[in-house]
Amino acid sequence: MASSTLICDTNFWKDLKGHVEDIKKTHLRELMSDSERCKSMMVEFDGVLLDYSRNRARQDTMDKLFGLAEAAHLKEKINKMYNGEHINSTEDRPVLHVALRAPRDKVICSDGKNVVPDVWKVLDKISEFSERVRSGSWVGATGKTLKDVVAVGIGGSFLGPLFVHTALQTDPEAITCAKGRQLRFLANVDPIDVARAIAGLNPETTLVVVVSKTFTTAETMLNARTLREWISASLGPQAVAKHMVAVSTNLKLVEQFGIDPNNAFAFWDWVGGRYSVCSAVGVLPLSLQYGFSVVEKFLKGASSIDQHFYSAPFEKNIPVLLGLLSVWNVSFLGYPARAILPYSQALEKFAPHIQQACVSMESNGKGVSIEGVPLPFEAGEIDFGEPGTNGQHSFYQLIHQGRVIPCDFIGIMKSQQPVYLKGEVVSNHDELMSNFFAQPDALAYGKTPEELLREKVPQHLIPHKTFSGNRPSISLLLPTLNAYNIGQLLAIYEHRIAVEGFVWGINSFDQWGVELGKSLASQVRKQLNASRIKGEPVKGFNFSTTTMISKYLEAQSG
Ligand code: F6P
Repeated sequence: MASSTLICDTNFWKDLKGHVEDIKKTHLRELMSDSERCKSMMVEFDGVLLDYSRNRARQDTMDKLFGLAEAAHLKEKINKMYNGEHINSTEDRPVLHVALRAPRDKVICSDGKNVVPDVWKVLDKISEFSERVRSGSWVGATGKTLKDVVAVGIGGSFLGPLFVHTALQTDPEAITCAKGRQLRFLANVDPIDVARAIAGLNPETTLVVVVSKTFTTAETMLNARTLREWISASLGPQAVAKHMVAVSTNLKLVEQFGIDPNNAFAFWDWVGGRYSVCSAVGVLPLSLQYGFSVVEKFLKGASSIDQHFYSAPFEKNIPVLLGLLSVWNVSFLGYPARAILPYSQALEKFAPHIQQACVSMESNGKGVSIEGVPLPFEAGEIDFGEPGTNGQHSFYQLIHQGRVIPCDFIGIMKSQQPVYLKGEVVSNHDELMSNFFAQPDALAYGKTPEELLREKVPQHLIPHKTFSGNRPSISLLLPTLNAYNIGQLLAIYEHRIAVEGFVWGINSFDQWGVELGKSLASQVRKQLNASRIKGEPVKGFNFSTTTMISKYLEAQSG
């Protein structure tokens, strides 16, 4: 395929389009009755089990998808990523988040330079700094130990660290290492988020970590100034040096803000914001909370999947299989959404991270190919999710009898916090997992009117109680949920989303779509200033926006 050819113009794509009609003739009920097929659709790597048998796919479908991957030069694109080529062409940057979790002796080059030593220099600095803070050898301006941390950042500078922190919070090893410390996040510019983030905290014992790749993001910088004021007002301006540190690629702006560059933790342009949790963005706040050794396990888990993604044949490659099945579901079967359903409360912030928001929707929500050609097909999918079983009592009705939404079921074999009630054989975790095992089959098999008749369901209720079934899902089982497995899960999703983007032929690593709203907000900000300071009337906006801004200004002055 020539590099400017759209993937949808290839024979592989056309062949898959034709194949849809064939697949439509078969219900998942039939597909699931073929044990050999099901066996061939299970893959295990480093304790992680993927079962993708509940997809509307047969072996010939998979073969066609592997053909599509070849037509899209998937292997070459993966290699280019690992080799540090500038695959983020619209920003002229490599995409090297895999280097953030590479072992010390690995060589990964960007523009001819091995970046791994730089990565470890920052990791070592974090390890040393976090130990000093945790042990009380780095103290605040009044000599007290800094036992609480507020991480200020938004988007990728927030969602990934929040997901990992939430997942670790109930892990027994992490609890022991946290030693009663607190980690909080401040993301939204909404003053309510500020109030919540600092509620009950004492500036004397609080360390603020400002996390921003660019150090220009309006919300983060305003929140950072607010917390700088909170510290200065209580402890004097000189206290900022002891109570504020930063994570950024822009060390010049960090210094201008008033943070000592020695207390800044760098990362690099080749780390996309939404892929930055394994850089100082996540590693610093998480190490302050749990200690570096716990965070290192998280990096090792991610690194294990990086190796697997790079070297496993596509037929056994978990991120590749997941990515290709997503392309099949979105582009061929026409399912535009995906539900992420972890059966673990500890993973409650996983779906918001993947949405980005952090990974999927900011990465693959694109309308043109990497060469700038408008796509005649929809790329990306709408991700949403909630932990089971909560989600079952919220939106599962729609998933079972309304729209078809492919689901990701994520289960954990051993709970972080098992509960066994006296006299009861089934533990809380068994109860949770009973639902985890049941839901994918309910979606796949459904319930027919004939079955309902046999159960003597009254005739008038039969249409209401019928489930069409034939609804795809994947099941992912992790052995437990510790730092290592959390790293594995993260990397599986990061790479799966890259696979989708590589096959669709888009740039999954830029995010121009967020710029327009930002620049319009800055025009509004200027107007608010002009109206407040000089009493200028609202102008330059359409009737609707002018009216709303005017009413807002009136309400503020009233
Ligand atoms: O939402 C757009 C975005 O640029 C994300 O990609 C990024 O993670 C976030 O804003 C925050 O940016 P920064 O880390 O530069 O403050």
